[in-house]
Amino acid sequence: MRVVVTGASSGIGYQLALQLVRSGAKVLVTARRKERLDQLISESTSGHANGSAFIYALPGDLTDPSHRAAIVAWCDREWGGIDTLVNNAGAGAIGPFAEASADRLRRVMEIDFFAPVELTRICLPLLLKGVRPAVLNIGSVLGHRAVPDKSEYCAAKFAMRGWSESIRVELAPHHVEVLMVSPSTTRSEFFDALMDTKPDTQSRSLGSMSPERVAQLAIRALVKSKRDMILSLGGKALVWLARLFPYLTDRILTRTSDDDSLSKAGR
Ligand SMILES: NC(=O)c1ccc[n+]([C@@H]2O[C@H](COP(=O)([O-])OP(=O)(O)OC[C@H]3O[C@@H](n4cnc5c(N)ncnc54)[C@H](OP(=O)(O)O)[C@@H]3O)[C@@H](O)[C@H]2O)c1
Repeated sequence: MRVVVTGASSGIGYQLALQLVRSGAKVLVTARRKERLDQLISESTSGHANGSAFIYALPGDLTDPSHRAAIVAWCDREWGGIDTLVNNAGAGAIGPFAEASADRLRRVMEIDFFAPVELTRICLPLLLKGVRPAVLNIGSVLGHRAVPDKSEYCAAKFAMRGWSESIRVELAPHHVEVLMVSPSTTRSEFFDALMDTKPDTQSRSLGSMSPERVAQLAIRALVKSKRDMILSLGGKALVWLARLFPYLTDRILTRTSDDDSLSKAGR
């Protein structure tokens, strides 16, 4: 199996790549931090006979169209096809909408929405040459039910989910599966890499998962062709609560938001 994993320098993507290589897949990993990708390569090849033949790194910024084109050119030249594209790279921002800038919204949408969408578009000719081809999108529970103070991130993950749903049906006749897994809070570097967010901003959550566990469940979703999977019990509970009692959910979430933000923005 030939797999491209984006955002493999830390967290969920790192663990996904590690587990895929250990299960015998050939994996191309990408992210901006080259030294982290090198670390991933040495970890995944240690104790693995001929391991370096299974993992390759192409460092770069996924929001840059030339880096996306380089990924596709590499896969075409080296593999002649792609079996699975994992759109995992992402980043968030926390803080009230009223205090945020247009730039923050654009940056979040670039990495969480436009980059995976455009990478998928240019990977399609190679996916069509793949064996049981699939696109696995790493979404978020916040792409099912939005919460306050994460408006840009929620918007990007909702957009990703809508796009996934649309192309899932478009690509079905071509036998390309489009799957989405939605984690809840995961103990990764995500909250250290928040964009334009006040230092020491905390994200409230009920429990969290390890990136190893999220990667395990994501691979299981891929193997079992789960079209749209929410990973945690808490995430499922939030989504069902919101479906059954939308007004009550709004009221509960209102209590968790920064109520002072609008008055501050008006000053
Ligand atoms: N952590 C959570 O609580 C949580 C919950 C739900 C969903 N998710 C989703 O899970 C996915 C993985 O996040 P994570 O939790 O594993 O966070 P993470 O540890 O911060 O990993 C994010 C990955 O994305 C890469 N990335 C970010 N911006 C990039 C860019 N411009 N170009 C290329 N790569 C870029 C980072 O690499 P470089 O910095 O080296 O480029 C890193 O490898 C994301 O899509 C996230 O939205 C996370």
